[in-house]
Amino acid sequence: MIQRLKGFRDMYPEYMRARRIVFDKICSVAREFGFHEIDAPSMEYLDLFRIKSGEEIVKQTFSFVDKGGREITLIPELTPSVARMIAARKDLVKPVKWFSFPKMWRYEEPQSGRLREFYQFNADIFGVKDITADAEVMALAMEILDSLGLKNRYVMRFSDRIIMEDLLKSMGIENVEEAFRIIDKRDKIGEDAFRVEMEKITSEENVDELLSLMELRGDVDAVLSKLQHFERSEVLGELKELLNAYGKRAVFDLSIVRGLAYYTGVVFEVHDPSGEFRAVLGGGRYDRVVELFGAQPTPAVGFGMGDAVLELLMRREGVWPEEKIEVDYFVVIIPGFRRRAIEVAMRLRRKGYVVDIELGNRSVGKQMKYANRINAKFAVIVGEEIERGEVTLKNMETGEQKVVKIEDI
Ligand code: HAM
Repeated sequence: MIQRLKGFRDMYPEYMRARRIVFDKICSVAREFGFHEIDAPSMEYLDLFRIKSGEEIVKQTFSFVDKGGREITLIPELTPSVARMIAARKDLVKPVKWFSFPKMWRYEEPQSGRLREFYQFNADIFGVKDITADAEVMALAMEILDSLGLKNRYVMRFSDRIIMEDLLKSMGIENVEEAFRIIDKRDKIGEDAFRVEMEKITSEENVDELLSLMELRGDVDAVLSKLQHFERSEVLGELKELLNAYGKRAVFDLSIVRGLAYYTGVVFEVHDPSGEFRAVLGGGRYDRVVELFGAQPTPAVGFGMGDAVLELLMRREGVWPEEKIEVDYFVVIIPGFRRRAIEVAMRLRRKGYVVDIELGNRSVGKQMKYANRINAKFAVIVGEEIERGEVTLKNMETGEQKVVKIEDI
């Protein structure tokens, strides 16, 4: 037998029901925030990610040469494609607020919360350079988690690449992109490996200083007063105030830098408080990506949230929806009444109910048993009373049974 690919998932109906509830909730909160839904191709030229995302993510792509000799990849993220869509449409009224929920693929070592195929919710705002847009997307991320029953069960951490870049440069570290990449991996690789990698680009003393900087976290004003970066202090202080107005909180944490190459300002991640899982979501400001597609410079900020870690966290916190299949009505057919039963089923279906109907010739007893197994709320038994416009309705939960007019069901 041919096995399923490693890191890919089969999804059965009970599980899909729970996912659908969660996905619909996420999208409905995004709509409430005034975001509009988009979608983009599942495959792109590999160069799109070489140019826009950095080598780290290119190493993780499912890429291949197609029949025309082109280097193609399944998308490992959506941000470059969305930026291209923005650049291609000069008529868009800014700010543009878009969300999407595509599948994506990364050739990573599969582990808890990390898969080779996953869904990632994306929300981005284009055309606002003010910190108000950063606050809006961060608040959206937190409102989504709150609405899924995770209030107070996650931590939003943020930092600022502008401050971190200044700090790195003041230490004489020129290869800032590489430094960000190593800092981003710090938790994953541990302190020893961090030292080894970092000492390839700077001195031992600098690495010590970096490690202590990365310990700085807490209230943004308290942390920034230690760093004395006045210009950004004001902006980040305002971010804190804005988040307060949304009724949300975030912790300033210099160890957050994010792995992707394109971020230019505020960066943020959400983790579970115990730190058991990898990031639930991550994002930040990327003001220089859209212009790479030949458009006017267009500021941008947004985030991506995968389905895998979110599911782990929701399960652990007991808020993952129940996994079951359910049906409103199961139409039970007495021999000889199939056509009339189909009419009853269609009538109910057109009213918007979920209606299943016997497709075989099983006995009434077996049909009832089946109705029970598929969690039908009611069984509608269609037999000779149909000639008087009536059916027998059985409440599957209470067992109560009565004859009713079809229009009264
Ligand atoms: P990212 O940090 O690479 O950012 O991914 C964001 C989220 O996607 C992660 O926090 C995680 O929930 C999920 N994710 C990533 N890789 C995997 C995987 N192998 N298995 C399961 N889930 C995964 C981005 O992708 C940016 N494009 C986000 C963004 C949008 N920034 C601005 N706008």
